Amino acid sequence: MSVPESTYLSPIWRDDIFKGKVIFVTGGAGTICSMQTRAMVRLGANACILGRNASKTEAAAKDIATARPGAKVIGIGECDVRKIESLEAAAARCAKELGGIDYVIAGAAGNFVASIDGISSNAFKTVMDIDVLGTYNTIKATLPYLLRSATPRLLAVSATFHYTGMPFQAHVAAAKASVDSLIASVALEYGPRGVVANVIAPGPIAGTEGMARLASSRPEQIAEHERAIPSGRFGTVRDIADATVFLLSDASSYINGQVIPVDGASWRRQGAYTVGVDMGAKYPDFLEPGRTTEGLKGGKKDKAKL
Ligand code: HXC
Repeated sequence: MSVPESTYLSPIWRDDIFKGKVIFVTGGAGTICSMQTRAMVRLGANACILGRNASKTEAAAKDIATARPGAKVIGIGECDVRKIESLEAAAARCAKELGGIDYVIAGAAGNFVASIDGISSNAFKTVMDIDVLGTYNTIKATLPYLLRSATPRLLAVSATFHYTGMPFQAHVAAAKASVDSLIASVALEYGPRGVVANVIAPGPIAGTEGMARLASSRPEQIAEHERAIPSGRFGTVRDIADATVFLLSDASSYINGQVIPVDGASWRRQGAYTVGVDMGAKYPDFLEPGRTTEGLKGGKKDKAKL
């Protein structure tokens, strides 16, 4: 499926600003990270994208390569960010086939909607492992290559839920808070060696896996949600891709160790507003005993084991 350029990139950027550069992206077949990668490829970079699903990842790589004639995009499937060996092998292959690694996007993430009572200890650990250990493993496996680049940059994809806390996202909020913290330490430890490390924190972005999991599918709730966002609309994948281009370009080289929300100021009004609920009930009514699984998107009906 070829994607019109206006879907993922503003017309303000100069061609070839990333010419000769290589980007390495975990979760690169996903709805947000594939557009971040596509924008970078369109503007000159070659790319290596990683995912657990081999056919999805390989197909996404082929499709992203259509963004620029002559682009090289490698898709590496069966890569689980929870396994450091998996990432080390992928980073080595990327460097061998594309000549190095200049930019890294740590985008692989796990999410489901569940209350604290409704997830097991193992479910909590699963999200922590994918998001936190996965980001750490990505950093660990790619730093040796980044340190050889003239423009080493790391960008982690986080969220905004932990700024306020969020019902049914305790596991995700805890994980993303850790991701933000990890990147701060990378900036402190590796900034003196030239590495620029930041976090991009998408808000509600239309048409993404995150929104499919988290946003209501009821039209009246969708409209109410959009109205509650100070910028008056859901974000687009282009909003995230444009911000990514800026954050990986020379124009932002003094922005280091920062968390950049791209959310239309949405997080400033979140908290009591909830995600992942498909019923009319408002906070805190849906938390009443016996009601926490009612209307929960993809939610399990039974109580989790400890
Ligand atoms: C409660 C659940 C659950 C649910 C899974 N679990 N789904 N618990 N409610 N809806 C529990 C399982 O029962 C199990 O616990 C534990 O989680 C691990 O589940 P597995 O299926 O064995 O794990 P795994 O195969 O590794 O799958 C990981 C996953 C899955 C996170 C559960 O959803 C996944 O692979 N997701 C990857 C894609 C993804 O989530 N993308 C979202 C990106 S959107 P027990 O105790 O039974 O063993 C995003 C948006 C962020 O991140 C926010 C932006 C604003």
